[in-house]
Amino acid sequence: MGKAVDSGIIKFEIIDIRNYSEDKFKRCDDYPYGGGSGMVLTPSPLFDAIEANEKGGSCILYTSPSGTPLSQDIVKELGTLSEISIICGHYEGIDQRVIDKFVNKEVSIGDYVLSGGEYAALVITDVVARYIPGFMSNKDSLVEESFESDLLEYPQYTRPSEFRGMNVPDLLIEGDHKKIAQWRHKKKVEKTKGVRPDLYKKYLMRLILGE
Ligand code: ADE
Repeated sequence: MGKAVDSGIIKFEIIDIRNYSEDKFKRCDDYPYGGGSGMVLTPSPLFDAIEANEKGGSCILYTSPSGTPLSQDIVKELGTLSEISIICGHYEGIDQRVIDKFVNKEVSIGDYVLSGGEYAALVITDVVARYIPGFMSNKDSLVEESFESDLLEYPQYTRPSEFRGMNVPDLLIEGDHKKIAQWRHKKKVEKTKGVRPDLYKKYLMRLILGE
C-alpha cells in the first residue's frame, strides 16, 4: 500500500469531522432522540465535511454493522470507481439524515461490532486497492484466489521440503502439473466443506447448474 501511494496509484485524504464542529469543545455527538444508550454523530459536522470535500462523482460509503455485508463482488464493483469516500461510523451511529442525503452504500465488514468504523474503512481500502491496476504485482493471484470460485484456497508449501520432520507432499515436488491441479482442487473442496459449509453449498449448486 505504501508503494502504491508513493507511486501515485492511490491517494488518501483523511478528514477529521471535529474540524467542522461549531461546538466550542469540537463535539460531534449528542444523545439519541427517543432515548436509548450511547451517542449519535450529529448531522451538521458531517454535512459540512462532506459538502466541503466531496465535489461530486465520489461513491459515498458508510461503515456500519447494519450495512450490506462486504463481499468480493462488492469489492470488485468498488475497484472500478475512481473515488470513494468513506464515512466512519462511531458510537451508536450517525444521524439518519446524513445517510438519506449522501450515502450510496452502507457496508458491514462482518457480524460483530467494532469500536469504530475506521477499522472497517481500513479493510475496505485494502481489499479494493487490490483491484486497482498496478497495485498487485502478480495479476494471476487475483483470479485464482479464494471466493472467486466459491472455494477456499489449497494449502501452500515452500522450501525446505522437510522441516522438523514434516514433509511437503511428494506430488508437489514431483511437478506433474495435472496431478498438482487435481490435488489442489481436492484440497480446496475438502477445506471449504469443513470450514465454510455455506460456500460449499454454493459451489455444489454451481456444479449442479453447470456454471
Ligand atoms: N462499525 C462497527 N462495527 C462495524 C462492522 N462490523 N462493519 C462496519 N462498520 C462497523
